[in-house]
This record gives sequence, C-alpha cells and structure tokens, in this order.
Amino acid sequence: MESRSTGNPSAPAQDWDPDQYATNARFVSDLGGAVLDLLAPRAGERILDLGCGDGALTVEIKSRGADVVGVDASPDQIREAKRRGLDARVMDGHSLTFEGEFDAVFSNAALHWMPETAAVLAGVHRALRPRGRFVAEMGGAGNVVKILGVMDEVLSARGYPGLQGHPWHFPSPKEYAEYLRAAGFEVTGIEHMPRPTRLPGDIGGWLDTFCEAFFRVLPEAERRPARSEIILKLEPLLADKDGVWWADYMRLRFSARRTA
Ligand code: BEZ
Repeated sequence: MESRSTGNPSAPAQDWDPDQYATNARFVSDLGGAVLDLLAPRAGERILDLGCGDGALTVEIKSRGADVVGVDASPDQIREAKRRGLDARVMDGHSLTFEGEFDAVFSNAALHWMPETAAVLAGVHRALRPRGRFVAEMGGAGNVVKILGVMDEVLSARGYPGLQGHPWHFPSPKEYAEYLRAAGFEVTGIEHMPRPTRLPGDIGGWLDTFCEAFFRVLPEAERRPARSEIILKLEPLLADKDGVWWADYMRLRFSARRTA
C-alpha cells in the first residue's frame, strides 16, 4: 500500500498526502490483483489488511464478503480508507495489538516500509488464529536498483551521503523465508520476480510520493535541482522509445501459515 505506509514509529519515513498518492501511485493497488488472488478471501472470513493505505484493496477484500480491518501508520491515509466505509485504524505495523482473531493477514506493498521484520512478524503471528494464513507482496531484493543508484550518485556528488535516508527493506526470498520460519510460520509459497511498473508520468511523481526521506537530507534550495538531475539521469534507464516510464520493480510474493 502503499501507499501502504506502516513505518518505524520512532522515525516515520514518509508523510503521506492522499491526493498526491492517488495521482502518482494508484498503480500500487491496481497491480494488487495477483496477491489478492493468492489470498483468495472467502465470505465470512475475518481478515487484517496490514498497511492498507487509502483502502483501495481493502475494499476489494470486503467486496468478496470478508469482514476486514485495515491498519496503517498514516492518519491521512486512514481518513481516506474510512471515507470508503472501511473499519480502518491508525496502527504501526511494528506493534500490532490484535490477539488470535484473524483467519488471514494480507499486505500489499507495505512490508518494505517496516524495517523491524521480527517485530512485524511477531505481531502478525499473534493476530492470526492457529493455522491462519499470511499472504503478502512487497519489494524484494534488487527492487528499484536503477533508481537507487542514480539517487545515490546525485546526492553523493552534492556532498551528501546518498543512501543514508534509505527507508526500505528489500529482502531476498531466502532471507524472508528464514524470518517467517523463525516467527512460527510454515512457508507455503514464495516467489521473487521482476515487475517493470508503468508510471503515470515521468519519475518525478514517484520521487515526490515515495522519496521524502532522501530529499530531507538536502537543504530546501537544493531539492528541486537535485530532483531535476535525477529525472534527467534516469530517463535513458527507465523511459522507453515512446516516452513511457517504467520503474524497475522486483516483487517478493509469498503465502505462509501460522504453524500452531
Ligand atoms: C515498492 O512498492 O516496491 C516501492 C514503493 C515505493 C518505494 C519503494 C518501493
């Protein structure tokens, strides 16, 4: 969700502007069909959407007859989710407060914003009933490497530690499967695949929507010029011959079950 935005409580990576998000990042929920199919929500199930953002996918889960609760660290996104008529609550993904009440926990494009994986998985485990399932998609190893490379180059050349503000965690399947097993899950499937992601414009909107933490290290006066330089350098890497921009996403999609 991204978006999906349940972040570290002590240092929020990002403030979310729901209008900006809807303009620049609607693709996040639009591309959530595969993970939603993997969840296969059934009527009457109680499901938690972790990092629900503005609730666009949560509504889909509800429309299949499930009783769904959405949580997100962003009060602004939760306001939007409530506007859709959802049971949506402001809650940090590192400290979920639910106890054995869900048949499934679902998450799309949110877990990479939550750096303390063990804390997140402990909360998901607690929230599930025995044998309850955890189905999610997130950025995986190699996600947005071209974007990160150019941002690093531009910020470093200006004398700032480029990736210092990197707020994301993009694990490999092996790494995440180990986390899941250590937290008491049986991994029933895990996939790692490229998913070039068509952007609604150039990379500028994506930078504005997701990269607050990077630009925060720059003095105000340098932010616009650095942004323009990043766009210029990324154009040959991400824009096709028709001028359509594609972000170099790698996805990690998995399903797991609470072992007991
Ligand atoms: C992602 O969904 O992979 C993602 C979104 C925003 C920033 C970085 C990664």
